[in-house]
Amino acid sequence: MKLVVAGSTGFLAGEIIRQALSNPTITSVVALGRRPAPEPQNAGPSADASKLKSVILENFDTEYSESVKKELSGADACIWTIAITPSQYRSFPWEQVVKVCRDYALRGVETISQLPRDGQGKPFRFVYVSGNNAERDPNKKPMILGDYCLMRGEAEARILEYASKSNGTVEACIAKPGVINGPGKESTLFKRAFFSLIGVPKIHVSEISAALLSQVVNGFEKDTLMSEDLSRIGQKVLAEKK
Ligand SMILES: NC(=O)c1ccc[n+]([C@@H]2O[C@H](COP(=O)([O-])OP(=O)(O)OC[C@H]3O[C@@H](n4cnc5c(N)ncnc54)[C@H](OP(=O)(O)O)[C@@H]3O)[C@@H](O)[C@H]2O)c1
Repeated sequence: MKLVVAGSTGFLAGEIIRQALSNPTITSVVALGRRPAPEPQNAGPSADASKLKSVILENFDTEYSESVKKELSGADACIWTIAITPSQYRSFPWEQVVKVCRDYALRGVETISQLPRDGQGKPFRFVYVSGNNAERDPNKKPMILGDYCLMRGEAEARILEYASKSNGTVEACIAKPGVINGPGKESTLFKRAFFSLIGVPKIHVSEISAALLSQVVNGFEKDTLMSEDLSRIGQKVLAEKK
């Protein structure tokens, strides 16, 4: 299987790529980003670094170049992690946040899913990593980060709609994790108390990465995976590996 991981310089993508290099079903990993992907750290003894190819698209606003399309051709699945996250979004103009979080993902699924591939009739699988509180119903604007959550919810709905109209050629799944913890991202006591007060679950980066890889390889359990689903699937996969 050829897997594209978009947002390859990010925190979550780094762990997805690290684990993908040790997954025998995944024979090729394209790390897509506007900058080169860093070398995976502590990849482990079974990792095959030769499977990894860093592909740079300097500007996601533009049409994908022919050379980038060539590198993405033949992909069986894509995990999309590109976003401006809630902790950063106030530093950017709102139009830029919408473009990066919603429009880049829509263009990504449309472009990559239409490239030539020999999937032997199998659908192209696309995961959009969103967030626990993203809301698809415009009448249910959340109290906290309301506009941001509605915008991410709209992206979720449009990606699912694209897949549902694809005549079975595209399968989409929305991953909605809570706070993702991991090396360098340990929550402070204050943050833990705050997120627990507003009901946001937490998940370790190794668990969500294991869950997403197992879903793209084996098929989606359902079209929306909440944080609890991702924890359950990820913990099972990691336990089986041990
Ligand atoms: N971390 C969490 O606790 C958490 C919780 C819930 C949901 N999520 C979701 O999980 C996903 C990944 O989160 P993360 O923590 O891994 O985020 P991250 O570390 O901030 O990574 C974001 C990625 O998006 C890319 N990006 C941002 N602006 C871009 C632009 N204008 N053009 C191209 N690429 C751009 C970044 O590239 P550069 O390195 O080049 O900037 C980076 O590769 C996001 O959808 C996020 O909302 C995260």
